[in-house]
Amino acid sequence: MARILTGIQSSGRQHLGNILGAIRPAIELSRDPKNEAYLFIADLHSLTTIKHAATRKENVLATAAAWLACGLDTEKVVFYRQSDIPQVTEMTWYLNCFTPFPMLANAHSFKDKSENLADVNAGLFIYPVLMACDILMYDAHIVPVGKDQKQHLEMTRDIARSVNHQLKQEVLIIPESKISEEVMVIPGTDGRKMSKSYGNVIDIFLPEKKLRKQIMGIVTDSTPLEKPKDPDTCNAFALYSLLATNQQIAEMRQNYLGGNYGYGHAKQALYELILEEFEEERKRFDELIAQPERIEELLLEGAQKAKPVADAVLGRLKAAIGY
Ligand code: TRP
Repeated sequence: MARILTGIQSSGRQHLGNILGAIRPAIELSRDPKNEAYLFIADLHSLTTIKHAATRKENVLATAAAWLACGLDTEKVVFYRQSDIPQVTEMTWYLNCFTPFPMLANAHSFKDKSENLADVNAGLFIYPVLMACDILMYDAHIVPVGKDQKQHLEMTRDIARSVNHQLKQEVLIIPESKISEEVMVIPGTDGRKMSKSYGNVIDIFLPEKKLRKQIMGIVTDSTPLEKPKDPDTCNAFALYSLLATNQQIAEMRQNYLGGNYGYGHAKQALYELILEEFEEERKRFDELIAQPERIEELLLEGAQKAKPVADAVLGRLKAAIGY
């Protein structure tokens, strides 16, 4: 059985882009009975940027609620919070001492910020080592990640090889990455990639009125109502196409080309489709977010399952180093 593991950034509310691009595919993968899945919320990594305690807690809860609402089954998936297994921070120290400085200096995650070194904390610099420990500490075989994490995975493999080589034993399992090349790019309300940092998201968990407002805010051109419109350059149509059936898509295309169909009509159709498609998820999200103690309990149960694995690997590593 292959152990699949991946980390989720605890960036708070998960938007439509996260759900279609990451959450649904990961849950799909975890349902394969040939796999054993480990999924965790990377709340230690978030400390490199977020220092505010209440924000961190809210982000973890909202992230967990979104994954659970989208169908993550905690009976099948070991779902935990990174910081509940602090052994990973101990392991990070050991692996820091096996990681060449230039490797870290070369990481995109660091280089992108290195123009302004005064703003870079040491945590950001060793971010890839903590990430390597997230993976190696659980003897993961396969790590599904987006293209942006490819370099981090290569570093993880290099660090593991360096440990095994220097300790002259196979202490750590070398994981394979599974890079999803054709990750769906979900357009945001302004046509750029949907991203929290662009402020162009659709948050499907919002109450109806606010959700509708977000959708009505989708940027379209100023073609008058009666004129035909080009579906292939329109954000509202692109978003609708991601969720609609082929027949619904064909109908909307006809409406665009035929004229007398406004962008407002298309947005209203998208709004209704989102309500329909995510009816269950929205309900479950509201229920979960109203009982944070239930989320907490589920995460702690996950940590109970993950901990023995972490202890075993840490034990193996410490013995090999001589502690
Ligand atoms: N760095 C990853 C991201 O930004 C999140 C992450 C942390 C992760 N630890 C991991 C992903 C371990 C895969 C495996 O998306």
